[in-house]
Amino acid sequence: PTRIFSGIQPSGGLTLGNYLGALKRFVEMQKDGVETIYCLVDMHAITVWQDPAKLRQQTYEAAAAFMAAGVDPARSILFNQSQVTAHVELGWIFNCVARMGWMGRMTQWKDKAGKNSENASLGLFAYPALMAADILAYKATHVPVGEDQKQHIELTRDIAQKFNNDYGVNFFPVTEPVIEGAATRVMSLRDGTKKMSKSDPSDQSRINLTDDADAIAQKIRKAKTDPEPLPDTLDGLKERPEARNLVNIYAALAGTSAEAVVTEYAGAQFGSFKPKLAELAVSVLSPITTEMNRLMQDRAEIDRILADGSDRADAIARPILDQVYDIVGMIRSR
Ligand code: TYM
Repeated sequence: PTRIFSGIQPSGGLTLGNYLGALKRFVEMQKDGVETIYCLVDMHAITVWQDPAKLRQQTYEAAAAFMAAGVDPARSILFNQSQVTAHVELGWIFNCVARMGWMGRMTQWKDKAGKNSENASLGLFAYPALMAADILAYKATHVPVGEDQKQHIELTRDIAQKFNNDYGVNFFPVTEPVIEGAATRVMSLRDGTKKMSKSDPSDQSRINLTDDADAIAQKIRKAKTDPEPLPDTLDGLKERPEARNLVNIYAALAGTSAEAVVTEYAGAQFGSFKPKLAELAVSVLSPITTEMNRLMQDRAEIDRILADGSDRADAIARPILDQVYDIVGMIRSR
């Protein structure tokens, strides 16, 4: 059976990158016969400093964004990580399975800790072991993510295999990353070589799910491009990262391929392509923003949904964790 797990950090407002690379695909994966488990990874968020009041607000906002985008809490399990303690419990066991060297090779660690790694939190270093625990606490088979998480999923596979080997069991599945679609890596609107990120200091670099129509149109109008018109094949976008990015965004928003977009707009100038892209972006994102704002009016309802999701998640993860404790040799006296 297919069991999907994925997570998003409530460490800031969600961006168009999170929407196209993750959320939109989470919604598409809700089908009969497929279990979908989606998590707001608040424990991951605090690997870098989070103001408590902001963290709480961002977690509500992310929950609202999931539902506004179409994650249906009746079909999917939607919850926040800290409420299901199996994550940190299994995370600790994986801290003892994973090797320091594996963690040190993670590009996200190198990027985030930078040269000042002495001063990074221990949690930031161990981050991928907790992520492996998120996935494997449910024995999830498939994990939809953007391109930037690929290395972490590969590490999850290594941890599962090492655990199975060390303990001589065939317990954890080898999880498949699902990295699909035209926008698996949405880039900054200011620099086509940097990924669009909620932590970029420039708000002009990203489209936030909370941006209104004017802000979206203005950011797309100002997005960095080159002076050439659009080519008639994808090959013509090879050395043009900013142009390629806008084409990819268009394709993902329209639910088509980048090839189809260059065919349709061959020879068009950005002066005419950008307004089309802005119109498309507004038509897709505005209803989501409106619905998010509506959902945010009733926090008690969001609390109820997350509580129900946590109960359902716990009911799956707890028996798996009990088996892990038996495998590892812990006495379970209660
Ligand atoms: P996070 O919170 O940085 O991002 C959430 C999801 O959005 C995708 N994404 C993007 N996709 C395309 N273009 C972009 N510019 C872009 N920016 C972000 C990410 O790839 C991700 O799918 N470590 C994870 C959270 C996590 C997780 C997990 C994911 C914790 N445990 C278990 C899957 C399974 C992260 O920091 O994602």
